[in-house]
Amino acid sequence: MNADLPWWYSESLTVQQGGLCLDGVALETLARTHGTPLYVYSRATVQRRLRALQAMLAQATTRYKVYYAMKSNRHAGVLAAARATPGVGIDTCSPREVETALAAGFAPHEISFNAGMLSNRDLAALAESGVHCTLDSFSALRRYGNLVPAGTPVGLRFDPGVAASYGQQPKMVYGKSKFGFDVEECAAALDAAHRAGLVVDSVAMHIGWGLPQSSADLVDWAFGRLSGVACQCPTLETINVGGGLGGRYLASDQPLALETWRDLIARHLAPLGATIVCEPGTWVVAPAGLLIAEVNTVEARRHITWVGINAGYALNPLPAMYDIPLEVIPLCNPLGAPAMIAHVAGHINEGVDVWAQARPLPRLEEGDLIAFFPAGAYGSSMASNHCMRGEFAEVTVG
Ligand SMILES: Cc1ncc(COP(=O)(O)O)c(C=O)c1O
Repeated sequence: MNADLPWWYSESLTVQQGGLCLDGVALETLARTHGTPLYVYSRATVQRRLRALQAMLAQATTRYKVYYAMKSNRHAGVLAAARATPGVGIDTCSPREVETALAAGFAPHEISFNAGMLSNRDLAALAESGVHCTLDSFSALRRYGNLVPAGTPVGLRFDPGVAASYGQQPKMVYGKSKFGFDVEECAAALDAAHRAGLVVDSVAMHIGWGLPQSSADLVDWAFGRLSGVACQCPTLETINVGGGLGGRYLASDQPLALETWRDLIARHLAPLGATIVCEPGTWVVAPAGLLIAEVNTVEARRHITWVGINAGYALNPLPAMYDIPLEVIPLCNPLGAPAMIAHVAGHINEGVDVWAQARPLPRLEEGDLIAFFPAGAYGSSMASNHCMRGEFAEVTVG
């Protein structure tokens, strides 16, 4: 890649004839056609990244399966792209997601389910669906066992016990959180499953969100713990390493390298001979998507230039709620030199509705279109209708 190009430039996200393009499609034209706010996703990127993960796992083990985590993005075009990628299943976390996965063409055996705090109604729907469930409480094991035939396989989810996440963001940490059995509870959880008539065929651990390279030691340690619980399970078929692989949000970001992840799987988990399962969301779909919005206000207020846009945190909570920075790229002048320092704010009546602070940007004017990148993961899927500002369009290119 040319060193003069910005960090976000890729084989998919390019600049052609001065305008930002996704897989060769001019985003300005697309936005003027569909209106804004508009989410745009690259089908090719979703598929390329799913295949890259399969290829990486194949270097660690002969038995593996990738389940795309639909909680990160459930747009029909994205699900179709995952569905059309040979060997890829889908990971769900609610009965409605299971229904959506079935409607997208995934067979029950290609669907995994992994969630906690489940109601009797949730468990009944899951029992009816026949998908494989990973559970993380004694209560769920007991109640699920009453609903399914004796011998039904289940997975157990364990607490990674580490605080690893993008930017040390505490809201993205999974260790010692609401999820999972403690590894010390493994024998008790196996016993509870047995008493409920269930067969534990899998152990699972989701370590964190957006894992950076600097968390490699923590991932190493957590995979060691996962290996420890796997060894206690006599009916083990699969080991599920969850999601957590991250991407870049800033030029300086260094996400956990796939090679490091592969090597840790090869060292701790592959030797146990079980199928290695992963459930990636962010790594697959974050860089496949952009959110396009229109500038409606450019104005100095108390010595700061504010750029107001027609999209607020109701459409993507990552910057406002989780301090995840998204790149701001003007569609018509994506490579322009910075000409102003501005705050970019949305149209929700909340002080936190700020997309970027003191950001160097090319000159922007009212009516210009900007794109937020990477916006493919946990944007549209987490959208709300706060202030009744929840409307947006979504398209897939390629
Ligand atoms: C159990 C589990 N698997 C997979 C994922 C997907 O994670 P990511 O988007 O980090 O790949 C999550 C995210 O919360 C999760 O909790």
